Amino acid sequence: MDKTNNNTDYVRWFRNSSPYINAFRDRTFVIAFGGEMLTDAQFAPLVHDLALLNSLGVRLVLVHGARPQIEAKLNERNAAINYVHGRRLTDDTALTCVKEATGTVRIEIEALLSMGVSNTPMDSADIRVVSGNYVIAQPLGVRDGVDYLHTGEVRRINDMSIHGHLDEGTIVLLSPIGYSPTGEVFNLTVQDVATAAAIQLQADKLIYLVDSDGILDQEQKLIRELTLAQIETMQREQTLSLPEESEKCLDSAMEVCRAGVPRTHLVNRHTDGGILLELFTRDGLGTLITAESFDDMRQAAIDDVGGLLELISPLEEKGILVRRSREWLEMEIDHFTVVERDGMIIACAALYPFAEEKIGELACLAIHPDYQKQGRGESLYHYIEKLARQTGLQKLFVLTTHTAHWFQEKGYQMADIKDLPVQRQAMYNYQRNSKVFIKTL
Ligand code: ARG
Repeated sequence: MDKTNNNTDYVRWFRNSSPYINAFRDRTFVIAFGGEMLTDAQFAPLVHDLALLNSLGVRLVLVHGARPQIEAKLNERNAAINYVHGRRLTDDTALTCVKEATGTVRIEIEALLSMGVSNTPMDSADIRVVSGNYVIAQPLGVRDGVDYLHTGEVRRINDMSIHGHLDEGTIVLLSPIGYSPTGEVFNLTVQDVATAAAIQLQADKLIYLVDSDGILDQEQKLIRELTLAQIETMQREQTLSLPEESEKCLDSAMEVCRAGVPRTHLVNRHTDGGILLELFTRDGLGTLITAESFDDMRQAAIDDVGGLLELISPLEEKGILVRRSREWLEMEIDHFTVVERDGMIIACAALYPFAEEKIGELACLAIHPDYQKQGRGESLYHYIEKLARQTGLQKLFVLTTHTAHWFQEKGYQMADIKDLPVQRQAMYNYQRNSKVFIKTL
């Protein structure tokens, strides 16, 4: 790529990320990763990225795991590694290993955060990090006849102290360890601590750095976005078979989502800058889990006119759509349905009912080039069709110059200008010479 191209890309990237930079200031993100992350080549770059987020005013809570480090300690002692239903059974020896391993991991992370940005333009950025007894735990107890001993579950998080540190711009680091009011120490899972922290701190995001690209479907294809309802259906129909880590993260995502944490992200920990790509681009690169669909299909409002113009003017220039002025759009805005994706209008369509003739015109159907061939046109079309039925229309017609086939596939039949409502016939643009297609609903 030549330099000009590079520059243009850089400028575009930076401009596109600015809404996110702005939106993330003073927001609380809980970022969780397993102990594997520490031995990963991407750990040092990750620390840089965390420092960057910190400097952009993001309130950061990091939750680390230590499973491989604990296992190494157990191996050193030739002690057994006991897991029951994916949870470690923590006996006295295991607890000693947990304390040693977690302590070491915590110190290593603190050390990296301390030197994180030397020899970079952020050299002077002084990153402060604290850790402490912020997680209060209780024993998991006996389950299905198994005593989990020192394995615990989170009772609560000391949110006040954590918020106090975050207010000062300090990063809070939580280990998978909890303390009881009687001075006992419990072994916890990363996901447990991250879930409790995200909920209790009312975080804006929970981000898991995972071994895979995110949640993969049966064909091993990455699923970019999932709603709570979609996950519930997939679980019911058992169409997801996930590795243990993804399973745990997904359960956590659902729990925090139900508790009001707006977005949970799963990002591949092996991707350099993965977290930046996920956070500062509209489409991200991992899996996003939200309560409602990430694409919001809704009736357009006057504030959408600017976005609509941006969407449709390139199509008008190509002659695919009829030219429409801002004033016209402002007047006609009530007829429009738009698809909004994180603040950007990526698709639109308008419905004009001719009540007397019980027929409606579907007009101005447009999908942003970056989002074509992903089924959005279909969903938008079906939405309009439903809307037409609800309004009591019996037929829909379109005037098209370019997309006749698409409509024919949807059951539209070629028709004549005289089949249009009289009022519309008068407005027909003979120069444009669009074809008329009609469908009986
Ligand atoms: N950058 C945005 C955010 O942080 C959107 C990310 C979308 N990610 C996805 N996997 N679809 O919220």
